[in-house]
Amino acid sequence: MKTIFSGIQPSGTITLGNYIGAMKQFVELQNEYNCYFCIVDQHAITVPQDRLELRKNIRSLAALYLAVGIDPEKSTLFIQSEVPAHAQAGWMMQCVSYIGELERMTQFKDKSEGKDAVSAGLLTYPPLMAADILLYSTDLVPVGEDQKQHLELTRDLAERFNKKYNDIFTIPDVRIAKVGARVMSLQDPLKKMSKSDPNKKSFISLLDDPKQIEKKIKSAVTDSEGIVKYDKENKPGVSNLLSIYSILSGKSVANIEKDYEGKGYGDFKAGLAEVVINTIKPIQDKYYELMESQELDDVLDHGADKARKVANKMVGKMENAMGLGRKRK
Ligand code: AQP
Repeated sequence: MKTIFSGIQPSGTITLGNYIGAMKQFVELQNEYNCYFCIVDQHAITVPQDRLELRKNIRSLAALYLAVGIDPEKSTLFIQSEVPAHAQAGWMMQCVSYIGELERMTQFKDKSEGKDAVSAGLLTYPPLMAADILLYSTDLVPVGEDQKQHLELTRDLAERFNKKYNDIFTIPDVRIAKVGARVMSLQDPLKKMSKSDPNKKSFISLLDDPKQIEKKIKSAVTDSEGIVKYDKENKPGVSNLLSIYSILSGKSVANIEKDYEGKGYGDFKAGLAEVVINTIKPIQDKYYELMESQELDDVLDHGADKARKVANKMVGKMENAMGLGRKRK
């Protein structure tokens, strides 16, 4: 069985973007692959976090992974900071990375732009991400389009390490969803939807209640044409809503366009809100049940134990390859 690794930062509550671009795929893939799903809390602290909020988000993300359908019998679910091998391997990967290539990363440029103080961790996020992936001899990484550049760098770093030290890493392939790989902000359809966006109206979180969802969709930016038609270039707002509608309802964009022919954006948005609420409601029911149960901690304990065993072995190989410490068996 081939191996999959993917992580999500507990930097807020999962948005429809994270769900469509990443999580939804995970659920389908766990039947065919040996999957590791990680709550990458060490990545989250590359930008300032409130400690209590972070703790809450970590637990909440774990519950959401299970609530959307990640099955702990099939997949390994764990928290990054509970597997110290990630930080150890992250340091070694930093030492094979060049500052220039890290400074060229779009996410670093976006997140550091206009900031007075930028953490060194924000710059060295990609080598830690490479370590996350390479520790498990990952074959495939399912991510949204925004992470493609980091994945390309992961491949470069793995190849560089293999060539320079020892051929120990599997070179991972990236898997981007065919549709919904880039869900856009509801307030600025030229910008991707992000869970840490300070404008809460820009995203729908998986824990928003029906009233909030209706309100956010109602205020989503569209255009003055009043025609429900997919045209990414000229109608980015409507096209984004149509994509979300299509992915969540399973209806084709053409059929949705037909359903709303001659009707305005009001009806279309009300229909979309219903589709979103119907998708999210069962996830939320399961989520609140899990948050009250012991099951969540048991799953995370078991996941961390399992991940530690695999990751420690790879750290040993990396240290041997680089000549660190004393030879490990
Ligand atoms: N808008 C999006 N559309 C499709 N996929 C997306 N992803 C993120 N935003 C979208 C995918 O979700 C997974 C988890 O992302 P992450 O938490 O590791 O970090 P991110 O990509 O930086 O996501 P956010 O929501 O924008 O987080 P913040 O606000 O903290 O930076 C990844 O597979 C990502 O591609």
